[in-house]
Amino acid sequence: MEKKSTRVITYGTFDLFHEGHYRLLQRAKALGDYLIVGVTTEAYDRTRGKLNVIDSLLTRIENVRKTGFADEIIIEETQGQKFNDIKKYNIDIFTVGSDWMGNFDYLKDYCRVVYLERTRNISSTMLREQKQQIQRIGIIGTGRIAGRFLMETKLVSGVSVQGAYNPHGESARKFADRWEIEAYTEMEEFFSAVDLVYIASPHGTHYGYIKEALEHGKHVLCEKPMVLRRAQAEELFGCARERGLIVLEGIKTAYCPGFSRLMGIACSGAIGSIRNVEACFTKLEDSGTRELTDLRYGGSFTELGSYCMLPILKLFGKNYEELRFDAVRGENGLDLFTRASLRYSNGIATATCGLGVKSDGRLLISGTKGYIVVEAPWWKTSYFEIHTEDSGQVEKYSERFLGEGLRYEISDFLSMINGSNDNGFKLTRGESAALAGIMEKFLETEGRKP
Ligand code: CTP
Repeated sequence: MEKKSTRVITYGTFDLFHEGHYRLLQRAKALGDYLIVGVTTEAYDRTRGKLNVIDSLLTRIENVRKTGFADEIIIEETQGQKFNDIKKYNIDIFTVGSDWMGNFDYLKDYCRVVYLERTRNISSTMLREQKQQIQRIGIIGTGRIAGRFLMETKLVSGVSVQGAYNPHGESARKFADRWEIEAYTEMEEFFSAVDLVYIASPHGTHYGYIKEALEHGKHVLCEKPMVLRRAQAEELFGCARERGLIVLEGIKTAYCPGFSRLMGIACSGAIGSIRNVEACFTKLEDSGTRELTDLRYGGSFTELGSYCMLPILKLFGKNYEELRFDAVRGENGLDLFTRASLRYSNGIATATCGLGVKSDGRLLISGTKGYIVVEAPWWKTSYFEIHTEDSGQVEKYSERFLGEGLRYEISDFLSMINGSNDNGFKLTRGESAALAGIMEKFLETEGRKP
């Protein structure tokens, strides 16, 4: 009787293919007669928190193929796939490197699980770090968001926070001590110590800081709203382009995997032609906070409008025909609850923001064949549903949104700088300039000078 062949399966990212990968595949093949290798997609790696993979999926597959050890190459795109693959491909042995020791013991009920000793002193992470020198980030501004940003940088390879600048020495030192980084109160000293700049200072100071940073030859990631006048955005992007630098607006939603997927699905005709977008984000704030006391740049729209305008600009574009604002104001005159209404040639949209009024923060996209609903916190997109006329038919999508979600924009910012990926499409310069124009119009309507 013919001996049954032994079927082996292994998985990996195989980024920047190295000796450790080669030796693993060689030994995996030697365990049986037929080897299947699962190569992860970029989207799957992002959802499991592995950011900054450099090689494309096709390159990684090609590198596995070139070893000659794989009899078949498959793509690993979801969590839980391994279990199904083992049944589908009639697998006898599942194997991975010893760095995963114990993690796949749950598969022992279905096949043999073999952990192969990992090759020492080599990994894709090490190679990525050698290839891309560690970028030293300097943070301007030392508030709450700066702390969250700092925590998230620790989850992205290729970057470390050098220090923080604040003209107020006391604040700079307090923040620096808390995070064990350097404190800077002198601009020149700060710029000469860092490679990249993240700006998280009050809105009104962004323009001046971005300009200074570009003049010092630094790439910039700036919190939203990046600037409050369209001409300023255009000037800064022009200045960056001339110097070969990147300026990116940090609206975390734009860079997270769930939102990218949502936009892709919405634009693919799943709900027909889009005719209405309603985005709402409200967050009750204490009356003493900067957001509710800064009479020039505070209020609900400057604080939250960037989030709500994002899906509208993405889905309908930058060329609206009409833009109107209605606001409910507090005693000091700042807007507590604001609605921007936009009319386009083919649809309408509203962006509703609140710091003093609470509402149902959801994103609703209506089309000629159905609608997509994303419940709060839709700005940390992780779950959405597609509904059609048939109420029994609801399609559900989910993606992971890890931590504070700033890791996604940091990772994209770095890959744009390193030239390995142009993620500029997630929030284009044109969209950022349009956002600045909308903020400008809002401040003018409110009688505030942008
Ligand atoms: N592997 C190995 N020896 C190494 C590196 C990886 O045996 N020095 C194995 C892993 O255990 C896994 C397979 O190769 O079974 C694919 O691993 P992958 O995660 O793609 O490679 P790493 O170099 O570990 O990647 P990273 O640094 O991004 O985690």
